[in-house]
Amino acid sequence: MVSPKPPPVPNHGPCAVGAGTAAPAPQPTARWLAQLGGMPVSSNRFEVRPAVCQDVKSIRQLVTPYVEQGLLVIKPPVSYYEALPDFTVAVDADQNLIGCGAVHVMWNGLGEIRTVATAPNWRGQGVGGAILERLIDRARQLGLERLFCLTFEVQFFSAHGFAPIDGIPVSPLVYEELVKSHDDGVAEFLDLARVKPNTLGNTRMLRTL
Ligand SMILES: CC(C)(COP(=O)(O)OP(=O)(O)OC[C@H]1O[C@@H](n2cnc3c(N)ncnc32)[C@H](O)[C@@H]1OP(=O)(O)O)[C@@H](O)C(=O)NCCC(=O)NCCS
Repeated sequence: MVSPKPPPVPNHGPCAVGAGTAAPAPQPTARWLAQLGGMPVSSNRFEVRPAVCQDVKSIRQLVTPYVEQGLLVIKPPVSYYEALPDFTVAVDADQNLIGCGAVHVMWNGLGEIRTVATAPNWRGQGVGGAILERLIDRARQLGLERLFCLTFEVQFFSAHGFAPIDGIPVSPLVYEELVKSHDDGVAEFLDLARVKPNTLGNTRMLRTL
């Protein structure tokens, strides 16, 4: 079970991160949160906070079923540790991880929203939206002016100010620099052939901040 006080959606699918399976996450202190970018956003049942190393195991448990469904891109465990500062997570009242998302800087003023996911039995209750809004705040702090995402969840991202785009919204000079990146997300942004299997059927979306 996800929580002693579960939300009213009875779908305990494989993404559910139960009290017995989640890695113990450290209790955030005010000083620690201040260093990481502020106090957590709280609601009655969950809070949103920056990710810490101890969250990676639960993040991977959460995203694995979505990877298997082709909704999220497969990544080796090391990628989650490398990208940890990009990640924001949501936890329930028992500190079980119920959602995650990341904002990745790609270029001056340009970033990407990645790996937004909510545990199946928490979907439709504002968790993903709270994470995305926190990531947008973080993007502004980082000096980003445009946020890209590649997704099947067009309605969700549209509700948060993203709009579908065609093509690659950077100048040829920036393209020349971005193409030197080894990051698969950047390759997806550039629509390179080597990542076509990752991008097929997804919608390219952009939000101006
Ligand atoms: C996309 C995803 C992260 C959204 O997470 P979520 O927690 O369900 O998101 P929210 O609850 O904030 O919003 C989802 C819907 O529920 C609605 N909602 C939000 N809070 C609600 C509440 N308290 N009661 C009822 N509905 C609510 C929202 O209006 C939203 O509707 P919309 O999609 O029509 O705009 C989730 O569906 C998911 O994990 N998808 C699989 C992975 C994926 O594809 N990720 C995107 C690629 S980056």
